Amino acid sequence: MITPLPPEALVLETDRLRLRPWGDGNADFGRDLLMDARVMRYVTGDPLSAEDADKHLAQAARRGAGGRIGIWCAELKTTGEPIGDGVLTPIPVEDVDVDWSQVVPDAYPTDQIEVGYLLKPSAWGQGYATEICRCLLRFGFEQTSLELIVACTDLENHASKRVLSKAGMYSYGTGRAYAEDVAWFELPRSDWAARQ
Ligand SMILES: CC(C)(COP(=O)(O)OP(=O)(O)OC[C@H]1O[C@@H](n2cnc3c(N)ncnc32)[C@H](O)[C@@H]1OP(=O)(O)O)[C@@H](O)C(=O)NCCC(=O)NCCS
Repeated sequence: MITPLPPEALVLETDRLRLRPWGDGNADFGRDLLMDARVMRYVTGDPLSAEDADKHLAQAARRGAGGRIGIWCAELKTTGEPIGDGVLTPIPVEDVDVDWSQVVPDAYPTDQIEVGYLLKPSAWGQGYATEICRCLLRFGFEQTSLELIVACTDLENHASKRVLSKAGMYSYGTGRAYAEDVAWFELPRSDWAARQ
């Protein structure tokens, strides 16, 4: 039995951002992100079609493990403007999509949990992804029983690799995720805890 976290405990804050659990109200923003070729270049290669974006967004509000696993919308604290998302979701190895059936209220997914983020281009280059990543790693280790959080990125996505290193994750060279070779990163709970 996993104790659900109250809704207010799922609203996370960094210096400049507020992360709220993804909701139906974020659908237009989500479509803008997923259908932008610049955002999706190293994620799926091509922007999603409207149909595929809606298919993805239909799953986006799912929450697992008492609310602890899922997608957050990141907004600027000053204006409330949404700038991107952050995720703690199960990572597929030889499948191209997350196995959303593992994201259920009363259990942890069986796949490893990855931290990830997508930002709209006007928000790039200001340290926001690093802020999101650090925030979700902290939440992940403080509020879940996970022993390890992993991450992956396209081998050519140097900005994202830099974000993961700045957030304190260890690079493990090339791994497999989303049915392709990826740059693989991990952070064990013990290492995270030792740094606090
Ligand atoms: C990748 C992405 C998340 C980076 O977000 P961001 O908020 O600009 O990242 P930050 O500002 O926190 O940090 C970026 C770091 O990468 C560095 N960087 C940027 N472009 C780089 C490049 N081409 N090569 C090497 N380093 C690069 C920056 O200098 C910065 O490092 P620094 O602080 O040491 O100077 C953002 O560009 C994005 O959302 N892209 C589209 C979606 C995506 O690829 N998401 C990741 C999927 S795994």
